[in-house]
Parts: sequence; C-alpha cells; structure tokens
Amino acid sequence: LQQQRESAERIRQLLRERNAALVAHYYVDGALQDLARETGGCVGDSLEMARFGSEHAATTLIVAGVRFMGETAKILSPEKTVLMPDGDATCSLDLGCPADEFSRFCDAHPDRTVVVYANTSAAVKARADWVVTSSVGQDIVAALHARGEKILWAPDRHLGSHIQRQTGADMLLWQGSCIVHDEFKADELQALADAHPEAAILVHPESPASVAALADVVGSTTQLIAAVGRLPTQTFIVATDQGILHDMRKRHPDKTFLAAPTAGSGASCKSCAFCPWMAMNSLAGVEQTLLHGHGAIELDATLARAARKPIERMLQFAA
Ligand code: 13P
Ligand code: SF4
Repeated sequence: LQQQRESAERIRQLLRERNAALVAHYYVDGALQDLARETGGCVGDSLEMARFGSEHAATTLIVAGVRFMGETAKILSPEKTVLMPDGDATCSLDLGCPADEFSRFCDAHPDRTVVVYANTSAAVKARADWVVTSSVGQDIVAALHARGEKILWAPDRHLGSHIQRQTGADMLLWQGSCIVHDEFKADELQALADAHPEAAILVHPESPASVAALADVVGSTTQLIAAVGRLPTQTFIVATDQGILHDMRKRHPDKTFLAAPTAGSGASCKSCAFCPWMAMNSLAGVEQTLLHGHGAIELDATLARAARKPIERMLQFAA
C-alpha cells in the first residue's frame, strides 16, 4: 500500500510536469480510477472517455483502458500525444473484426448504413458511416431506423441483437463477442437472483440475450452506475466486468453488490468477469509510460481522418 501511495504521488507530479491528463475506464484497477478522478482526469465509459480526451486542454493523454480507447483519443486529437501503459491491451471484439474481412462484408451489402461499435480498430471505423458506444448505440440506430435505413452492424452480436429487439430495426449482424460478457449464464444468474429476491439485476448489453432478459436495467457502464443511484434498491447483482464494483461501492457504501456468476454454482463469483486486457493497466505501468513516453499511439493520417468522421457524428448526436 505504501508503494502504491508513493507511485501515485510520483504520477501526480509527472502529470503536472508533462501537462498530461489520465483518462481511465471503469474496468481498470481501482487505484488508477481514483488517481484519474483526483487529478482532474476522467473515469468514464467509452463515450465519456472519447469526449473528455477531445475537450481537455492537456497536451498529453494517458489512456488507461484498451487499445481502441487510445486510438479513438488519437483520432479525435491528432495534435495530442496519446500514451497507453500497455500496447498489447486489446479487446476480443477488435480482434474478431479484421478490417479487410469487414470491408468485404460492407462491399457485399452496399444498401446498408454501416454502424460500428467503438470497440474496433481505426481501420474498421474508417469504413463506417457511424461509430457508436453502448450508451448511444440504441438511440442512433432508432433514429436511422426511423429514417428507413437498413443497418449493417459490427462487431458485437449480443449488443447488436439487443438493439435490434429494442428498436425493431433491420440489422445485419457481424458475429463478434466479448470474451468477458459472453460468459454470463442465465441459469446461474437466475439461481443467484432466487437467493436474493430483493436484488435488482444490472446487465451490460454485450451479454447474451438470455442474460439481458433477466435484467432490471441494461446499459453502458455509466448507465449501470447511474441506475444504482436512481433505484431505491439496497442490493444489486451486476453482470459486467467486476472493475465497475470499485466505483459503485465508493459511491454507495451502504449498498450491497454481488458479481453475477459466469458458470457453476449460482453463487456470486469473486474471480469471474475480469477483462484480461483491462487488467494490464497498473499504477507502475502508468508511471513508466509517463517517465519514458512509452506506448505512444501512432496512426496513419489518412486512416485517422476517415475514422474521425463517424466518431464525430456520434459525438454530435450525443451532445
Ligand atoms: P462501455 O462503453 O459501456 O464503457 O463499454 C466498453 C467496454 O469495453 C465494455 O466491455
Ligand atoms: Fe473488449 Fe470485453 Fe474487454 Fe470490454 S470487457 S474491452 S468488450 S474484451
């Protein structure tokens, strides 16, 4: 703990010296989330991280999250230095949607509006009409559907089918999934809910439809956190990466949070649902990145310009 405190102190100093801001996702280590908040940086869902990075005056952004979040920050702020503690922190949705294959999929369906989830590479985004995150995807698809547009959606099939059910839009889905959320099981979740009938169930929409069907609230990480404050309920079963529990417990120390099970007994599971790539972010990694300028995100300028348009469309829609 003493070591952590000392490292955090050195990071504070380096952030000031480098005119840098720390932008963290809710799934990363709690100590990093605390530090981001205490130093005037951002802890947020992917949409908030993107917005913060593009609006903040810092000349360097340290993105504690996964690769697509760093790329989005760089796309929106090419003049800023964007550093990531670990360049190998990727995402199974990004890995499962290679740009060349995706491009062929789009070519085969030229009549469809291409809507791409933020959890993708810059090259995939460059092919999109719209980029969306889980917090605005449904509203954007609903608006496109109301205009009579047919959608080509990639890459998360569960989020895509959730939005399809909610909006009734004609959506052709790429078959990607998140290795963390795909593991939640409806039977186990139901067993835990039966043992805690007073609990409200919160589910991230990257989870399977059978799991989302049991939810009181389905939403992005920020929307799930907001639901905890809004509902009078004392106990919550949470089906998303357990990193989010840090923020929920901090904001609501009086409430009880149970991590949804991914397999097995139906009991709350302490070791389930941790994204291995989000877990690559640490205080030590951030300190090293700041010290040596390691892990700069570099993108082809033409590609980045093409990817920027559909991201800006989303930010304008969400404003
Ligand atoms: P949010 O946009 O809800 O933060 O989700 C990002 C993510 O990677 C979820 O697994
Ligand atoms: Fe990707 Fe899933 Fe990890 Fe989110 S939790 S970064 S969707 S692998």
